[in-house]
Amino acid sequence: FSLKHLNTFGIDASADRYIFYTSEDELKHIIDSDQIRDVPILILGGGSNLLFVSNFNGVVLHSGIQGIEKIQENNQEVIIKVGAGVVWDHLVNWSVENGFYGLENLSIIPGNVGAAPVQNIGAYGVEVKDVIEKVEGLYLNDASHFVIPGNECQFDYRQSIFKTSLKGEVVITNVYFRLKKQPGFILDYGSLVDEVNKLGETTLENVRQAVIKIRQSKLPDPEEFGNAGSFFKNPVISFTQFLNLQKSFPEIPHFILGKNSLVKIPAGWLIEKCGWKGKSIGNAGVHHKQALVLVNLGNASGNEIVELAERIENDVFYAFSIKLEREVNVVG
Ligand code: EPU
Repeated sequence: FSLKHLNTFGIDASADRYIFYTSEDELKHIIDSDQIRDVPILILGGGSNLLFVSNFNGVVLHSGIQGIEKIQENNQEVIIKVGAGVVWDHLVNWSVENGFYGLENLSIIPGNVGAAPVQNIGAYGVEVKDVIEKVEGLYLNDASHFVIPGNECQFDYRQSIFKTSLKGEVVITNVYFRLKKQPGFILDYGSLVDEVNKLGETTLENVRQAVIKIRQSKLPDPEEFGNAGSFFKNPVISFTQFLNLQKSFPEIPHFILGKNSLVKIPAGWLIEKCGWKGKSIGNAGVHHKQALVLVNLGNASGNEIVELAERIENDVFYAFSIKLEREVNVVG
C-alpha cells in the first residue's frame, strides 16, 4: 500500500497493510479481532511529522474519526469534542467562525487533531496544551478506553506522555478543547501584533489572517515542496553555555525560560549561521526562507533527507557544541 500521498514529505514508501476507520467502535473491533496482534503498528494522522526512510513492514492505522461537537457551554467558555481525524485547520477555522478564542494563533498548522496533543503543537506564543481539556482513546493491547485530563498529559515543549510512557500503547480517538467566549489575544510573538494592526481591528479573523500571512511568507507549501515543518526542535541550553556563546556571537537570538535558568535558541539561526540556508544535497534541501525546515526538492528518498540532517547536526555541533534534536519522527 503506497504512503506517498499520506506523508507531507511526499516520500514514496509503502506499508504491508493499511486500515482506515471512522469511529471508536470500529477501532475497538479492529483491536479485538486480533488482526493487528504481534505486528508493528504505525498510527497515522495527517502525516505531517513523519519521515519514511524505508518501507513500513507492518500495519498503518489511519483515523478518519470526524465531528466537532459542543459538549458544555456557559457565558464564559465552551467545551468541544473533536474527532482525531478532523483536519487541524478545519477546527481552527470553525472556532474562529463561531467566535471561540484560543486556537487562532495555531492557524494552518498541517496535520490532524489526533496528533496535536502528541507533540503539543505550538506557534506564535500558544501551545495546544493551553486549551486541551482532556484526551481520550483506546489501549492497543486490550482495546480498553482511557481518558487523560490535560493537566496529566505531561505536556512540555513539543513533548507529552504520548511520546514517552504511552508511546505505541494507545490510539487517540477524540480530543476535548476548552475555548473562551470572551475576547483575549496573545500577540506578543515577533511581528504578529504589527501584522494584525495592518489588517485593522484586533479580531479573531484578523489574528488568524495575520498568522496565515506570516506562516505563508516563511514556510514552504507541502503541495509544492514536500516538508514536515520544523525538522528540529529549538535547543534549550544552560545559561552558562549561552553566556559563553554570546561572547563569540553577540547577536545570537535567544529566549530566556523562566524556570531553571535555561535559554532557548532558534535552531534556524544556528543552521543559517553554519551556511546551510537555501543549500541542498541532491534532492534534499534547506528552505531558503526558514532554515529550520528541510524540503524534498524532487523525488528525494527519506535517506537523502536524513543525510542532509546529519550533515547539519554535525556542523551545528562543531560550531556551537549544541546537539540538535529532531522534531520529525523518522520511521523505518
Ligand atoms: N531564524 C534565523 N534564520 C532562519 C530561521 C529563524 O535566524 O532561517 C531566527 C530569527 O532570529 C527568528 C527566530 O529564529 O527571529 C525565530 O524564527 P521563527 O519565528 O520563524 O520561529 P522558529 O523558532 O524558527 C518556531 C516553531 C515553529 C513555529 C514558530 C512560530 C519549533 C521547532 N518551531 O520556529 O513551528 O511556527 O516558532 O511560533 O519550535 C513546526 O513545529 O513545524 C513549526 C513550524
